[in-house]
Amino acid sequence: MTECERQQHAHLDALLQAYHEALAVHKFDGVLVFSGQPARHFGDDQHATFTAYGHFVHLTGQAHLAHSWVMVRLGEPSTLYLHSPADIWHLPAYLPEEPWVERFRVEPRKTHEPPALPPGRFAVLGEISDGMAQVMGAEANPSGLVAALNELRVRKSAYEVSCLRNANHQAMAGHLSAREAFDAGGAEFDIQLAYLGGVRQRESELPYPNIVGLNAHGGVLHYQHYDTVAPEKRRSLLLDAGVRYRGYCADITRTWPGHDSVAEFTPLIDGVTSLQHDLIAQLAPGVSYVDLHRRMHEGLAALLVEQRLVNASIESVLESGLTQAFCPHGLGHLLGAQVHDVAGLVDATGQRRPPPAEHPALRLTRELEVGMVVTVEPGLYIIPMLLETHRHRPEVNWDRVDQLADHGGIRIEDNVLVTAAGPDNLTPQEP
Ligand code: GLY
Ligand code: MN
Ligand code: MN
Repeated sequence: MTECERQQHAHLDALLQAYHEALAVHKFDGVLVFSGQPARHFGDDQHATFTAYGHFVHLTGQAHLAHSWVMVRLGEPSTLYLHSPADIWHLPAYLPEEPWVERFRVEPRKTHEPPALPPGRFAVLGEISDGMAQVMGAEANPSGLVAALNELRVRKSAYEVSCLRNANHQAMAGHLSAREAFDAGGAEFDIQLAYLGGVRQRESELPYPNIVGLNAHGGVLHYQHYDTVAPEKRRSLLLDAGVRYRGYCADITRTWPGHDSVAEFTPLIDGVTSLQHDLIAQLAPGVSYVDLHRRMHEGLAALLVEQRLVNASIESVLESGLTQAFCPHGLGHLLGAQVHDVAGLVDATGQRRPPPAEHPALRLTRELEVGMVVTVEPGLYIIPMLLETHRHRPEVNWDRVDQLADHGGIRIEDNVLVTAAGPDNLTPQEP
């Protein structure tokens, strides 16, 4: 047995035990977890791309298995109801040779109907309507049980950390291929193809649509297109691209200057990179992620002053809200079987912990704990829509800011494990 297989066995031992404990605490006899199903285009026989429900992925690692179910039941072996109809059009679903398969009784099924439930109190989790759950004689997504199972995903097992590390190594190979395509003068589409070739993963299997932003497109936070024509001037590339490995996600961003960057751009990239390294060094158990997010804003204020984008004190830049205009997103989020993993905005008892009013986009408000994997992704963007409300401020050096507008933005993002000994950066640092 390989080390990875040993780790997966230990992971499943602990996970299924924890499922049983949660069922007992919440007084259920069992839980049926639905993987979900792809949406069919209206009036057509084609389907949208599909990603399975996070808890199904947590149990099986299978992020694209549709119409399938896992039953975890007190006093009984766990069962995977695998949807595998006889189909001349498609290859029937098959399972990988991984240890988790031996842990489940696998029951192939040809129907889209949910499996029949035995007598008892059962929960059904996933994209299930209350009406359907009622027909099944079960409760759909009971909040207490869902919160308890979400919590099981917050601290990663050794197996999950290995998967996240592998996803990161694979993704970095893609980033290096993409950078070569950028340096060779490629369009966004060419860079995307180079990335896919580097990671050897089809687009629909990635954890999120890659963000490949040349020039001003780097300032569109979730820019969604791939231009097929290269721009005349090459100011910058912002590439936010990941990989899924056995269900687990990498989420890495790099920003590169181009042949036609203004001289001010590279020091800004270096500044954001060094701020990111400082913030990563501060990751430790007990540290509040909200505090770290605030330190990102302090660092951004210092950078804006140092790079003479704003002529004012760091304190007054912070007070004016300018750093929120330059970086409207949060410092990062939990990462796992979903790129924005669950339970970032609650505490360990399930109590809501909303983000501070002035930082509504922050997705993680918890204190850090050993075993959490978080992204650390400070950014600095020229987003005209946001900067416009600050146009009246004379302390902003608008000439400098405006000449950066066609460089879009900067984001540097790594995936980091919190350990008792400090941060363990899962993202390989490129040569
Ligand atoms: N790739 C999405 C994010 O960084 O959160
Ligand atoms: Mn992220
Ligand atoms: Mn990202």
